[in-house]
Amino acid sequence: MLPSPLLLLLLLCVSGHNVHAHYTSGDVVYHPLSHFWTGVGFCPAGDIDHEGISAALAAPEVQMNLRQIAALPVGAVTHIRIHWLLELVQFLQYDMSGVPMYDFGKFDTFIDFLHEELRLSPVLEFMGNPGQVFTENPQQISFFWDHLVKTTLNHQIVRHGSARMANWRYETWNEPDLHGYNTLNLTVDYYLDYVQAVRRGLSKAGAAHGHSSSNLPMYRALRGPAGLFKSLNGHPRCWKLLELCNQRMVHCPIDVLSFHRKGLNGSAVEIVNASLTLLQQIFEEYPNLKQLPVANDEADPVAGWSTPREFQADVRYGVTLMSMVMQHWHAKLSGGALSRLESISHDNAFLSYHPHEFTQRTLLAHFRMNETQPPHSQFVQKPVYAALGMLAKLGSRAADMELVNMDTKHSVQVWRTVSGGMGGPGQYMATIFLSPEEAVPKITPFHHKYTLNMSIANESAFITELMVPQSTDPFHLWTQAGSPAYPNATLREAMRRVQTPRLYETGPIWQYNSELVINSASIPLPWAMLLRVCSATWPKLKRPQQLSIVEVTHREVFISWREHPKSTQCLRSYEVWFKQRGGQGFAVDWQLISRDWHLPYPSFQYAPNGQISSVNGFYKVRGVDVFNETSPFSQIVEYLEL
Ligand SMILES: *[C@@H]1O[C@H](CO)[C@@H](O)[C@H](O)[C@H]1NC(C)=O
Ligand SMILES: *[C@@H]1O[C@H](CO)[C@@H](O)[C@H](O)[C@H]1NC(C)=O
Ligand SMILES: *[C@@H]1O[C@H](CO)[C@@H](O)[C@H](O)[C@H]1NC(C)=O
Ligand SMILES: *[C@@H]1O[C@H](CO)[C@@H](O)[C@H](O)[C@H]1NC(C)=O
Ligand SMILES: *[C@@H]1O[C@H](CO)[C@@H](O)[C@H](O)[C@H]1NC(C)=O
Ligand SMILES: *[C@@H]1O[C@H](CO)[C@@H](O)[C@H](O)[C@H]1NC(C)=O
Ligand SMILES: *[C@@H]1O[C@H](CO)[C@@H](O)[C@H](O)[C@H]1NC(C)=O
Ligand SMILES: *[C@@H]1O[C@H](CO)[C@@H](O)[C@H](O)[C@H]1NC(C)=O
Repeated sequence: MLPSPLLLLLLLCVSGHNVHAHYTSGDVVYHPLSHFWTGVGFCPAGDIDHEGISAALAAPEVQMNLRQIAALPVGAVTHIRIHWLLELVQFLQYDMSGVPMYDFGKFDTFIDFLHEELRLSPVLEFMGNPGQVFTENPQQISFFWDHLVKTTLNHQIVRHGSARMANWRYETWNEPDLHGYNTLNLTVDYYLDYVQAVRRGLSKAGAAHGHSSSNLPMYRALRGPAGLFKSLNGHPRCWKLLELCNQRMVHCPIDVLSFHRKGLNGSAVEIVNASLTLLQQIFEEYPNLKQLPVANDEADPVAGWSTPREFQADVRYGVTLMSMVMQHWHAKLSGGALSRLESISHDNAFLSYHPHEFTQRTLLAHFRMNETQPPHSQFVQKPVYAALGMLAKLGSRAADMELVNMDTKHSVQVWRTVSGGMGGPGQYMATIFLSPEEAVPKITPFHHKYTLNMSIANESAFITELMVPQSTDPFHLWTQAGSPAYPNATLREAMRRVQTPRLYETGPIWQYNSELVINSASIPLPWAMLLRVCSATWPKLKRPQQLSIVEVTHREVFISWREHPKSTQCLRSYEVWFKQRGGQGFAVDWQLISRDWHLPYPSFQYAPNGQISSVNGFYKVRGVDVFNETSPFSQIVEYLEL
């Protein structure tokens, strides 16, 4: 049914084939690579107050969206930045001395869900106005912010422990110069006081919990000003903060300079260009700030998350995001204004709505199924979701981005990474190949040869996966089916079968200096390929953890599990097994319910049809690696529909 032309020709031999272009890798220099692109964010819908934000974040469809995001390969998304989280804190009353008392019940519930269940670290933005305490006491903003920050942190430290919160991030008010965000109407001076107060509160947190008096509280970095940095007059708060920092770095309240720069027309290069331009301007004006790490919190191709754009629905957005990451890496290595880049975050964790299920800036397509009783939500993973999963497989050291020319105007971007080696536990290599985003007029039929030294060990195996238009593109299927608001079970399954990268080829490698030949002549643009090579001595797959089965609707469940961080580089696919509850004394066997599915990511949606029409029973999963070896099974979990 799906078009599946022979897209890539992979030859694992030293061959003298006639090729039109070729590229041979010489000595490659690898640099330590921190996966700096693993943040996502969104703004909850609804009123900006305790009731509004609590209701928005407790909605089952919002939680399922987050659950899906957390079900990417381990390390793909580590941080989530959600505006107005502090509104979950409820103001109770002032105590005898006029100090506010807060109830953290809703805040705790949500943070526990993120941190304990989904294993995502929050980016806590200090923005909000619980119980109007700040607007009711405008003269005491400093004291109350210091107190709220310290109290909130201390409360979490007691619950989770300082060490387990080490990856959390803390940030000042989002885009403080925009009226829509600056709901306290802070003037420039009050804003600067507020930032200092947040810094003080953060520094005080944890002080009472050291076991000995010599134990200083853990230092927690503060990010800011999360600014748009338009004109000096239009955006005085974020510029003034930088001015203050430049004058006296020792009194600068922020440790990471965060800013927001997006592309103009959706191309990756524009995001990097816009960031470089801004940072060059900042460093020229305020040279002392060159010592600060920098972060682009909202590094998206184009502003306006809810504006439908077709490229955001299909493979193009996935390729753009990967290209954007590669170009940031290149800019970081180039020693310019982005050399101290700490992280970038994608503002694409939103929940899409009808009729823009696929086309808004989101990781998942969201279908609100109003025709069922009660209504429920269905999610389909978009190619950009798959792209984040592919990036998660990169190693811990990376070469600079390389360009392989296809013709005079177009090149394939190649990004090589490695892990292990030098006495470490085996060796691992992961390389991403990215086609040009587009090529007009058509690239001439063309064989492109890329020689990759795959000599990582005597015994090794490889796997290639592809992201290409149509065959890994649920949006294409959906539009072909007439873009139904309520896709039926058949269409939903068909879309889910194409939501992951496609397994292209896998097998053992017997020879040193094996070479990879890509025949790009018939590949529809744009495409991305991930090549992984593993030595037999690389750590074996560990057993999947924390298997969870949650209801989607009647007779349909979302199954997900956690991956062990150090062993899934060489994963080929998962297997999901199911055993029905033995009724009437029949012996029932385990069944492989994911037969014929390529499941490189730790989740599976099970919607049985036909004879076995129940989801009630026992589940277990295991991984299979590129050597065809299986991991131990996860624990068995029973699911029972109410
Ligand atoms: C802030 O200013 C806007 C417009 O000037 C006004 O509508 C709003 O009530 C003010 N908010 C506060 C908290 O003072
Ligand atoms: C962006 O697209 C618009 C409309 O297609 C066009 O007018 C504009 O020139 C483009 N800008 C850039 C920088 O490519
Ligand atoms: C990005 O910047 C480079 C160097 O300044 C320039 O050559 C290129 O045209 C810019 N690209 C875009 C899309 O602005
Ligand atoms: C390939 O890599 C191996 C191991 O690093 C090295 O010994 C060999 O010389 C390399 N071959 C080429 C052609 O670069
Ligand atoms: C590969 O095997 C050969 C022959 O057994 C051995 O001499 C060589 O050291 C091995 N190389 C590596 C990288 O393990
Ligand atoms: C499901 O929807 C597709 C496309 O809308 C349609 O072609 C098909 O007949 C439907 N299947 C069933 C069983 O209703
Ligand atoms: C389902 O109902 C909600 C709430 O009434 C509405 O916002 C949404 O557009 C509906 N979805 C579809 C697909 O009609
Ligand atoms: C694993 O099994 C597949 C399918 O049977 C086969 O094509 C592949 O070569 C095997 N891989 C290894 C490393 O033996």
